[in-house]
Amino acid sequence: MTQHRIALIPGDGIGAEVLPPACAVLDLVGKRHGLTFGYDEFDWSCARYLNEGAMMPADGLDRIRRHDAILLGAVGWPCVPDHVSLWGLLIPIRRLFRQYVNLRPITVLDGVPSPLRHAASGAVDFVVVRENVEGEYSEIGGRLNRGFPEEMAVQEAVFTRAGVSRVLDHAFRLAASRRGGITSATKSNGIVHTMPFWDELVAEYAARYPEVDCGQEHIDALVAKIVLDPGRFDVIVGSNLFGDILSDLAAAVAGSIGIAPAANLNPEGEFPSMFEPVHGSAPDIAGQGIANPIGAIWSASMMLDHLGHPEAAGEVMAAVRTVLADTAVRTPDLGGTASTDDFTRAVLDALP
Ligand code: NAD
Ligand code: IPM
Ligand code: MN
Repeated sequence: MTQHRIALIPGDGIGAEVLPPACAVLDLVGKRHGLTFGYDEFDWSCARYLNEGAMMPADGLDRIRRHDAILLGAVGWPCVPDHVSLWGLLIPIRRLFRQYVNLRPITVLDGVPSPLRHAASGAVDFVVVRENVEGEYSEIGGRLNRGFPEEMAVQEAVFTRAGVSRVLDHAFRLAASRRGGITSATKSNGIVHTMPFWDELVAEYAARYPEVDCGQEHIDALVAKIVLDPGRFDVIVGSNLFGDILSDLAAAVAGSIGIAPAANLNPEGEFPSMFEPVHGSAPDIAGQGIANPIGAIWSASMMLDHLGHPEAAGEVMAAVRTVLADTAVRTPDLGGTASTDDFTRAVLDALP
């Protein structure tokens, strides 16, 4: 029997609705594979911020640094400015636990039609590899002359050789293990310092991995090509902000932002990695019990894979695929009338 200790951070809104389905699936698949999960739940959220003045305690990261993995729902709620809630919880976890690779796979699944009429199931299967700790997400900058006509805001982007290289290395190795294609998202025609540097490092890695077919696209052209021909992509690697935007676009191409998973990886294993759906707290549907749990369940499957249980991970995704392909059970974002619980029960029933 293998026991894993998991830090659970449901967070805000539908975050708390999609994590119980993920845990139920983990518990059931675990039984077949001799795995047990010990969950420690942390109430770190906007509600905590309002009560206690901080999204998490000062020693929050110390409390979860020895867990095997972190499963997070979503963070952010309209009562707290987003930059306060996110820089108070999600972003410090990613940065201080050196989760510098954010893997966001996208597949058009059988039974979930893409809004793009030409994107058939099975024909779209790519991974966005998002640089996750630097780039455009930096605290360097400031606001000046508040309230005056001269008011201004400056935000610096930080790209380091070490930071870009390590995520490129991961992305090229991933491409080599898949279909051998990589597309770098750039904007070196408009952003004159950071993006030409990014391109130079991409060229270094392209030379290092001759077996990988490396192309690059300006981000504006790339989003159009993803809509026009999503089947051509294998791995897309991008900076923190480009990767963020690409991953919601890709989720929509696959039918709903509710289905997309994410793995925030600390590849060296010195800190826990964090698994979370791509979507946010969805205030517009929170509390109704209708959130699509696939993103969270798929993230839990990625966690199983990361923890060394690829068969269990595969069974979870096979069960999700079976429900989508063989039944009409769907949450409203996919055109159905099922609740989060209905869908979860169907997945549990479909597990071997
Ligand atoms: P969002 O992802 O919460 O919602 C966008 C749209 O997608 C909404 O219409 C929502 O109803 C729908 N949606 C999202 N997840 C769904 C699901 N599982 N099932 C069905 N429909 C779903 O994005 P937003 O509105 O930009 O952000 C809301 C809050 O969440 C903000 O505070 C934002 O900062 C935060 N956020 C957090 C994370 C995170 O924790 N990783 C990610 C994105 C946004
Ligand atoms: C995501 C989210 C976060 C990000 C926000 C909420 C800070 O959009 O995980 O994709 O931009 O990384
Ligand atoms: Mn995002």
